[in-house]
Amino acid sequence: MGKAFENIRLERDGALALVVVDRQDRLNALNTATLVELLAALSDVSADESVRVLILTGAGDRAFVAGADVHEMVDRGYLEALRFAELGQKVCAALEEMPKPCIAAINGYALGGGCELAIACDFAYASTDALIGQPEVNLGIIPGFGGTQRLLRRIPAGLAREMVITGRMLEADEALRVGLVNAVYAPDELLDAAHETARAIAEKGPLAVARAKRLMALGLDLPLGAANALERESFAGLFATEDQTEGMRAFLAKRKPEFRGR
Ligand code: COA
Repeated sequence: MGKAFENIRLERDGALALVVVDRQDRLNALNTATLVELLAALSDVSADESVRVLILTGAGDRAFVAGADVHEMVDRGYLEALRFAELGQKVCAALEEMPKPCIAAINGYALGGGCELAIACDFAYASTDALIGQPEVNLGIIPGFGGTQRLLRRIPAGLAREMVITGRMLEADEALRVGLVNAVYAPDELLDAAHETARAIAEKGPLAVARAKRLMALGLDLPLGAANALERESFAGLFATEDQTEGMRAFLAKRKPEFRGR
């Protein structure tokens, strides 16, 4: 780590990495440069064995991410739009596929690409002033970073369809009720809450956490029987790790385990 970024910040706090999208004059909208930086930061975090959890949020007190950058997109043609969507989808896939949990801390607008980033994370917390949605139809386009598909898999299908087709945005309480976010906090308590959960995750066996994350992502696209077969193999595979021995011995000895990710 230690790269200089212009549109994001990457901060470390022990086993926690905090990625902050920081383009406040554009409500943290995602232009190409920001997506490229996000991809680099996520690749660093993914490869850094000392990091066990990532928190993603937006700078300032108004927005998580207010969408893809409309200023940049307005004059685009087919090929540029395709490349942009590919880049955005790579960033979302990087969040989903990295072997450590990602928590979205939605501190305001999470629109378009912002909603798509949030639902590529393992789960999300929101501030009371969050507004979450896929308003692309207002601009004559559709989500391009996986929103039409991930939203369908995250919340009831009818609601996902309504959000994408009408552009209706959800306030925090509704997002909580439908399970789009797991908890809602006052704006000044949101990051602390995300940190507290992240610290708790960082104390679990990292190989087990990584496997659980991967299995639950893969399983969504598999028939139940195949997904359960994969679970059995993964379960058994963890018995070949030092972490399993340490976790169970520590439990029996009534002491705290020291997981090493081996
Ligand atoms: N792309 C580029 N710039 C954006 C942006 C986006 N998605 N969202 C906000 N901004 C910029 C605005 O252009 C404005 O810049 P300016 O001061 O140079 O004009 C600045 O951020 C502040 O936004 P503004 O619209 O003035 O704030 P607001 O409080 O009136 O409204 C929103 C906030 C989020 C409701 C409104 O900005 C909005 O609808 N944004 C677009 C959301 C969207 O459609 N996202 C999906 C894109 S695919």
